Amino acid sequence: MSPGRPAVLFVCLGNICRSPLAEAAFRFEAEKAGLDAEIDSAGTGGWHAGDPPDPRAQATALAAGIDISRYAARKVVPADFRRFTHIVAMDSQNLADLRAMAPADCGAHIAMLLDHVPGREGASIADPYYGGEENFRDTWEDAVVGARALVRIISDGQ
Ligand code: 4NP
Repeated sequence: MSPGRPAVLFVCLGNICRSPLAEAAFRFEAEKAGLDAEIDSAGTGGWHAGDPPDPRAQATALAAGIDISRYAARKVVPADFRRFTHIVAMDSQNLADLRAMAPADCGAHIAMLLDHVPGREGASIADPYYGGEENFRDTWEDAVVGARALVRIISDGQ
């Protein structure tokens, strides 16, 4: 990977629950660490394209002081695999879907968010969409732990 400005894309299924929370946590942690990066999120599916995050995800982020109400969902596109240096899946299905979608000239490093957290390698972040508020709080905690670890790894690599 050539040096330069990191570009990090967080990916889940719908881009309305987990990946917007991961994007928000990473924006917050990157800012705190002084890491300059392009940051975005997307879904492997396009059903919610243009929608704001799920109201429960918005409330979870807001409880941490972060307003994600203006995020808009979008689907992963082939150009993402060239634009981003890191593509970060929330679960093993997202990871498999991304690997299947990746073009031959994919330059991005593709992994799951919790792969970057010692002791949690290979762990998925469960989809909270059909769950309750506590599932969104768990998602947020995983997003923050993963974001901190990834910020450290990318910062160390520069
Ligand atoms: P996300 O959650 O992948 O964390 O955004 C989901 C949101 C919506 C759907 C599935 C997962 N859905 O099927 O509409």
